[in-house]
Amino acid sequence: MDIRILNNAQEIAQAVGDIFSAQLKEQPRSILGLATGASPVPTYQYLIDLYKKGKISFKDVKTFNLDEYCDLPREDRNSYYSFMFENLFSHVDILPENVNILDGNAVDVDAECAGFDARIEKMGGIDIQLLGIGTNGHIGFNEPAEAFTEGTFKVKLTNSTIQSNKIYFPDGHMPRYALTMGIGSIMKAKKIILIATGEAKAQAVKAMAKGEVAPACPASVLQNHADAVIFLDKAAASLL
Ligand code: GLP
Repeated sequence: MDIRILNNAQEIAQAVGDIFSAQLKEQPRSILGLATGASPVPTYQYLIDLYKKGKISFKDVKTFNLDEYCDLPREDRNSYYSFMFENLFSHVDILPENVNILDGNAVDVDAECAGFDARIEKMGGIDIQLLGIGTNGHIGFNEPAEAFTEGTFKVKLTNSTIQSNKIYFPDGHMPRYALTMGIGSIMKAKKIILIATGEAKAQAVKAMAKGEVAPACPASVLQNHADAVIFLDKAAASLL
């Protein structure tokens, strides 16, 4: 686990954005694993800026998103589908058919999840997977559990996640289930980049980096990945 502590979210966005940009220049047909939440937003803004300056293109890129809420229409402003278009896809030249986001309303959930993993595999696997971390140590929506999860699956969200994310659902209709890549799917990525900023993440970051590798802190599994780079600001790194 390669831990890099930078001064602020902007410096992290630039450092992470430069890794993505180098990847796209070297391999224009890259497969990117993308994340939602506040943590990756500055990186997406930096990438949009590089695209507008003509320095990178997403024309041949394919993307897979980590997770999506269940029982929320795709058009809802809080769906991860909407989030990705608002924060990245609508501002760059990616082709909509190259965007892969789980359908949280699929009737056949098992087929949706298995099909998602199979598509990733068929395309040769994810080159770079971007991650945030939940305050309880979750990655994607892999909540603390008895065992590490494997492939993409449907998960019941924990109270901690519901409390953290319910600010986005002021009408109180926060989904209780989600589809998420499993830990096994995430660990197959060739490179993983995790971003954590702010004091609220300090405890989870400590458990991830210094704790035992155990499903009680799903992110701790990244200690076992051959190329996981963790970008922290000073507040998120304060307990290391
Ligand atoms: C959500 C997402 C995660 C994300 C986490 C942290 O629960 N499913 O993928 O990493 O929130 O989000 P934030 O970056 O907003 O703190």
